[in-house]
Amino acid sequence: MPKQGFTTKAIHAGKIDFHPDSMSVPIYQSVAYPYLDAREAADIFSGEKPGYTYGRWDNPTVDAFERRMAALENTESAIAASSGMSAIFLLAHHLLQPGDNVVSSNRVYGGTFGLFGTGLPKMGAEVKWVTNPESIEAWEAAITPRTKFLFVETPSNPSLFIADIPALAALAKAKGLPLVVDNTIATPALQQPILLGANLVVHSTTKYICGNATSLGGIICGPRDIIEGIRQNGIRYLGPAMAPLNAWLNLNGLETLELRMERHCHNAMEIAKFLEKHPKVNYVNYPGLESNPYNKLIKPQMKGVSSLMSFELNGTYEDATRFIDALQIITHATHLGTNKSIVTHPASTTHSAMGEVEMKKAGISPSLIRFSIGIEDENDLITDLAEAFDCAENPAKCKGRLTQDKYPLAT
Ligand SMILES: Cc1ncc(COP(=O)(O)O)c(C=O)c1O
Repeated sequence: MPKQGFTTKAIHAGKIDFHPDSMSVPIYQSVAYPYLDAREAADIFSGEKPGYTYGRWDNPTVDAFERRMAALENTESAIAASSGMSAIFLLAHHLLQPGDNVVSSNRVYGGTFGLFGTGLPKMGAEVKWVTNPESIEAWEAAITPRTKFLFVETPSNPSLFIADIPALAALAKAKGLPLVVDNTIATPALQQPILLGANLVVHSTTKYICGNATSLGGIICGPRDIIEGIRQNGIRYLGPAMAPLNAWLNLNGLETLELRMERHCHNAMEIAKFLEKHPKVNYVNYPGLESNPYNKLIKPQMKGVSSLMSFELNGTYEDATRFIDALQIITHATHLGTNKSIVTHPASTTHSAMGEVEMKKAGISPSLIRFSIGIEDENDLITDLAEAFDCAENPAKCKGRLTQDKYPLAT
């Protein structure tokens, strides 16, 4: 068959013969699959006959999603999990023994930071953080004889670090280690790490792949021996399987992923340019902007820059919260990668427990705003932002925008 394009594969790849056939993959909302007879059960369990055994390690709807993701990430196989965090945990659990370590960029999602920093020691393993992940020499220096894999999240959430994947892959190859890429923010529509030399890819499918904030999910894509090892010895005993309904929601998300990512990237670029010029903005952190230090790494490895960015409002903590409260279309929530645009104010939410001093060290100022740009009409988003900036600067211009204006307290 001729090589197919991304969206053709996102709609058709990994087809399973369901009877009767259906326009959308059927949801097998079942934890077990009755056998014809004892012989068939024995053959399925021994692997002699294809079939399904028990919902914790296989399910036809989840299987269809896994096959499609493997096709999109150019791997032999894939295994879905209940969340992005459980996918990363399953992979680390499979690759590490007590005494081993993972060498990881320190620019990773907070959950991954916590899992590697405090979860691995409970398994007798550890992380060697690379605090300067731009430097391949720093990666090399962190590798020890007990290193079992290299881990990088690129682009990273929330700092938007971009790794040079081919350079890291060359190092991993020279050291005989697998390189794992967390491809959540880019998705395979924009970046295909296996084609750049990586060996395994993980995702939080909760984000762009699902696309509408309806389901938690994760996936590991990689060589068959590793994926089957995780199925037989990881998910089977630990249990964080993806629910069939969530696999179905993700399959639906995949069908429009490439189209959505094009729109996410377009909107993000226009908004980054608007924010960069706005007098109320100190700086914008978006690798798509030419002024961004990672901009030169984009073209050789990404089709687009995705739509996560952060910017600092020229003002105080209170100005930032007033700005957020004044937004009418852009939603305030702790999430990213959905059709809806979302802002988060780290200082009052995700990072508030750190305290002022630690936040400062981590580069999180009181008026920093994380912004995941959705696929709404770009002009509506820009108008919403412009009006909210006016409100933050001059409370008299907030009329009707703040909650207390819309829902006045009863007197
Ligand atoms: C880059 C990245 N990886 C992994 C995760 C964890 O995913 P989940 O929330 O599905 O467990 C997240 C969550 O935000 C993320 O941003």
